[in-house]
Amino acid sequence: MTSITDKNHTKVILVGDGAVGSSFAYAMTLQGIANEIGIVDIAKEKTQGDAIDIADATSFSYPKNVYAAEYSDAKDADLVVITAGAPQKPGETRLDLVNKNLKILKTIVDPVVESGFNGIFVVAANPVDILTYGTWKLSGFPKERVIGSGTSLDTARLRKFVGQELNVDPRSIHGYVLGEHGDSEFVAWSHLTIGGLTMAEYQQTHPEITDEKLQAINDRVVNSAYEIINLKGATFYGIGTALARIAKALLADEKTVLPLSVYMNGQYGVQDLYVGSPVVVNRNGVQEILEVPLNAAEQEKMNNSAAQLTKVAHDGFK
Ligand code: NAD
Ligand code: LAC
Repeated sequence: MTSITDKNHTKVILVGDGAVGSSFAYAMTLQGIANEIGIVDIAKEKTQGDAIDIADATSFSYPKNVYAAEYSDAKDADLVVITAGAPQKPGETRLDLVNKNLKILKTIVDPVVESGFNGIFVVAANPVDILTYGTWKLSGFPKERVIGSGTSLDTARLRKFVGQELNVDPRSIHGYVLGEHGDSEFVAWSHLTIGGLTMAEYQQTHPEITDEKLQAINDRVVNSAYEIINLKGATFYGIGTALARIAKALLADEKTVLPLSVYMNGQYGVQDLYVGSPVVVNRNGVQEILEVPLNAAEQEKMNNSAAQLTKVAHDGFK
């Protein structure tokens, strides 16, 4: 594998200029995360319009090159971020999207690989754990260089809700949603901390934070996408910002811990599957999977999440 650690000029190719993709490109632009952002989509005119519109923001943020791209532009990119795919309609689950979005994925991965791309794939289209597994299989890339957004958004929602309930800055809440980015995901409460205190310790001096309240937070996290989709038809600002955070961590070689969908080879007892877990990421992708020691109830939930995903992933990629 060729290391991309020494590059100064950072280039991201985004495939999928819908609500999620354009929010990501806009978040990247406002934060000055990459020097160059090329956007590929079958809706070419809309993509050209978006590129010009987002580039208008560069005078107020950071100078950078935002343009409508072709797959051949991926050749020397550091990241290819895939947000192309149908979103859920009200009432649909993420897993319901698998057939149509796998078809779309197959039209994307081949031309990216054919371009000579040798960077990191980041997948956000749903069902993200399955599509990330698919990207890994179709591309033939090392598992460390194929990553899904996983439970990054769900974990952000968890920290937000816990912060609101406790009246504490969400950035001081450390904890993770694990498993599928979807209905079987779960909060690893046994390892959530507030300024170093476990939630159980915090509850001893804050009896108003009952187990029922924590269960309600858990349920709201799991159902957040449905709540938002019912209200406005789609979710995009949260994931757009989460993707920008992931891109920054990778491009800046941060070695930050983020909850992402990564290839499991025995971790959590899960084999041959992409599932959400905290991982250390650097300029070359996944540096290390951090296996959170789960209690028995949490491990049961991880087993269930893996079981939900295994059949779908393995049937789709025999
Ligand atoms: P959207 O319909 O607004 O955009 C999808 C885009 O994909 C469109 O611009 C479309 O032209 C493009 N596209 C379709 N087929 C293509 C192809 N073959 N090649 C290139 N581009 C193609 O949808 P959205 O709201 O942006 O959602 C995109 C995906 O992201 C969905 O699958 C959604 O479920 C997922 N999503 C994931 C998360 C997460 O946390 N991982 C969060 C929100 C949404
Ligand atoms: C989310 C998408 C729909 O907002 O996966 O969680």
